[in-house]
Amino acid sequence: MTISTLRTVADLRAQVSQWRADGLTVGLVPTMGALHDGHLTLVKTALAKCDRVIATIFVNPKQFGPNEDLDSYPRTENEDREKLADVGGHVLFAPNVAEMYGTDGGVTKICVSGLGDILEGAFRPGFFDGVATVVTKLLLQALPDVAFFGEKDYQQLAVIKRFVADLNIPVTIEGVPTVRETDGLAMSSRNAYLDREERQIAPLLYRTISEVSERFKMGGDAEALSKWATQQLLEGGFQKVDYVALRKAHDLAEGAVKGEAMRVLVAAFLGKARLIDNVG
Ligand code: PAJ
Repeated sequence: MTISTLRTVADLRAQVSQWRADGLTVGLVPTMGALHDGHLTLVKTALAKCDRVIATIFVNPKQFGPNEDLDSYPRTENEDREKLADVGGHVLFAPNVAEMYGTDGGVTKICVSGLGDILEGAFRPGFFDGVATVVTKLLLQALPDVAFFGEKDYQQLAVIKRFVADLNIPVTIEGVPTVRETDGLAMSSRNAYLDREERQIAPLLYRTISEVSERFKMGGDAEALSKWATQQLLEGGFQKVDYVALRKAHDLAEGAVKGEAMRVLVAAFLGKARLIDNVG
């Protein structure tokens, strides 16, 4: 199977217009590349729901902080293209930074107040502005019927749903459950940073938040469980725990309420990798 690679917004729009003229529905799967089975599951889900599927690969500089891994972020476009072709994706949209932001970098940003400032937003200032800005642009460039995002990045999904609603962007946002390795570790491009020993330790993240979820259902106290989980991770070999939080699933607000859908979210450092995960 082959897949066509488009580099410009003009070419992307021409392709989508042609599909529209043929009466076809369009799904969009935004990524930063280094594709794994989590990404490919988004593509397969999109293929099951839409006639044509565009995957995008763009390592978005605006969502990396000054001390983060923009330069070392894995870039494997040729392998990615083969994987996308194998699962049956129709188009890869892979613009460069100048095509995405213009020669002056662009001065407009999308900022989701509140939801974008807590948890990940508190530890990575500006991160969700960068995500919201690039996802808005991708949605407006492609104007798909449905765009697919992973629950792996649960807060990101919530932020995207929120600005799409606030800005009346005519696209359905669909969340896809987290794809995991057999030992429970959530698939992530950043798992590549783990050495052998760290890779053995990494599944503790999912085990720990799963146990927090169980203990909370049994009547455990949210704050005590968060402290317990942090301790477990540090004793188990994680170097630093940014947060273990029990939040309301729909808006990630504080205040654990029994009977309401809740989410346990975690971010912690293991070696060079900052891993995040969440469970219901
Ligand atoms: P990236 O980390 O490449 O992830 C692209 C999409 O794949 C996101 O929607 C993410 O939630 C989803 N994903 C990653 N790992 C997954 C897993 N194990 N199971 C299910 N889905 C998974 O997230 C981004 O890129 C960027 O922030 C982006 C939205 C592309 C904006 O730049």
